[in-house]
Amino acid sequence: MKALILSGGKGTRLRPLTYSGAKQLVPVANKPILWYGIEGIVAAGITDIGIIISPETGNEVRDLTGDGLLFDAKITYILQEEPAGLAHAVKVAQPFLGDSPFIMYLGDNIIEANLGEFLTTFQSNQLDSLILLRRVSNPSAFGVAKVDDFGRVEFLVEKPKHPPSNLALVGVYFFSPAIHQAISQIQPSARGELEITDAIQWLIDQRYPVESRILDGWWLDTGKKDDLLEANRIVLDTQITPEIMGELDSRSQAIGRVRIGAGTQLVNSSIRGPAIVGANCYLENCFIGPYTSIANGVTLIDADIEHSVILQGAKIDRIQQRIVDSVIGRRAHLTLADRRPKALRFMIGDDSQIELA
Ligand code: TTP
Repeated sequence: MKALILSGGKGTRLRPLTYSGAKQLVPVANKPILWYGIEGIVAAGITDIGIIISPETGNEVRDLTGDGLLFDAKITYILQEEPAGLAHAVKVAQPFLGDSPFIMYLGDNIIEANLGEFLTTFQSNQLDSLILLRRVSNPSAFGVAKVDDFGRVEFLVEKPKHPPSNLALVGVYFFSPAIHQAISQIQPSARGELEITDAIQWLIDQRYPVESRILDGWWLDTGKKDDLLEANRIVLDTQITPEIMGELDSRSQAIGRVRIGAGTQLVNSSIRGPAIVGANCYLENCFIGPYTSIANGVTLIDADIEHSVILQGAKIDRIQQRIVDSVIGRRAHLTLADRRPKALRFMIGDDSQIELA
């Protein structure tokens, strides 16, 4: 059994962060999104992992993630020249996959599930595909499956106007090598991509056994800002164990489940968990509220921040209002120039969003 993680693509919905970096490397609770997928796959006992990368962000993904040593796995990087669809990515990976069955995992998804259980179902039922589904309130935004009472998949439809069910396709699939034949038989869709849903539909039409299972745990597709904040909230809520490695002066405190990295200094600052602060940060006169992740090398002075993600090297200095529901990019600076500001002065990247609430 092998694994294929898709970490190419464009990431248009997470701009501007994805102008300068891969969306799969955006951190959730200070860990790249991609790594959650790798860890879940390794936990299921699969250690031969291929990762699809794009020409734009591939080097960054490879440099950070490495050859698998960090995860007790073997990682092979596979370049997809163009983001021509999920099934196209499988096609490009065919030399790596050979005739092995494999799990395909979208690198921008985080799910709470024991993949090993699904793997057992896939293997013991001798399926050609097992797909994971989750009940959603807005199925029109997703690929949707119609299944029978036994979980057998009847048909799939992409972003339907009139959804046949409320079961959305989660970005985790198990395939036998029959999928390669299916992919060779399909044509690009109206949006010009080779769609994995079309390939699975081909398997169903040819009467290959395709089943589904419903995921009860959470599933987070970190495509947009609010998804990212929600992923951050849930992961901080469920997976953070407290550990203080940095230094707190006598007027500082960490309340609840808080992690603080080495070399970080707190001066007259309070952090209320669940929250995480990376290494080598400097916080002075700050209040950091729940569901906040602060990456390495961040400087915060007179800041009041809650339910936000602050990326590496950012600096926030004397902003008087509370910062909430925000994602601040790498090395971004927010400062107060005048004690009683009468104007706002910006140097903001393309596709940024500013909301004075
Ligand atoms: P998507 O989120 O569907 O596509 P995208 O990354 O281009 O994002 P956006 O809609 O914001 O522009 O892709 C799901 C995952 O699969 C994601 O991790 C990127 C990856 N992917 C590839 O590796 N190759 C591809 O050809 C496509 C379409 C996606």
